[in-house]
Amino acid sequence: MKKLVLATNNSHKTTEIKELLADTGLEILTLADFPKMPPLIEDGQTFRDNALKKARTVHLHSHLPALADDSGLEVFYLAMRPGVRSARYAGENATDEQNNKKLLDELRGVAPRRRGAQFRSVLALVGPDFAEISEGLCRGTIAESPRGTNGFGYDPIFVPDGYTETFAELPSEEKNRISHRAKSVKGMKASIRTRIDADEGLSRITR
Ligand code: IMP
Repeated sequence: MKKLVLATNNSHKTTEIKELLADTGLEILTLADFPKMPPLIEDGQTFRDNALKKARTVHLHSHLPALADDSGLEVFYLAMRPGVRSARYAGENATDEQNNKKLLDELRGVAPRRRGAQFRSVLALVGPDFAEISEGLCRGTIAESPRGTNGFGYDPIFVPDGYTETFAELPSEEKNRISHRAKSVKGMKASIRTRIDADEGLSRITR
């Protein structure tokens, strides 16, 4: 079975991406399969830089194609913050609750029509002689207070367009149908098939 390594330490992302890739027939490995993996450093200025850096590190160490997701929430009223700093918005080791609270405090008193936001997911697929990028966006609004217990990160305060529930109130299947990550993974599937299949074909021919 062809293998792909997910370059993330976030168990929620791993669960979502594994579900979204279930129909590819790939064997999905995670960082737990590589205990000596060097740390994945996210010091880039853009989602794209961070995703490429994480995927490249994992590919170089595992010698397998690696897929990384760098993602975050962009709030229009806050000039696209927290953006690449989403995981660390309220400080270096901030919890999801602290990040949500900081964002809600900054939006206190802001009218619903000005609370527009989008989640962005940038995926990078890196192998021996290729690097592919795919992006997905999901638009919505920031709720007045947290609601729901599913998901992770900013899910309890994000209401996707067309819904009244937050992502954390929706079943995971529904989030996985409409999310930024659903779209970035869908966009990457053709590359995954071509690149990983082509790789296997080549190694068979040269063996
Ligand atoms: P990073 O990609 O590891 O830098 O972190 C992404 C951060 O963005 C997460 O820690 C969350 O705070 C946020 N984020 C990304 N995707 C989602 C999502 O699907 N739901 C909620 N929060 C998300």
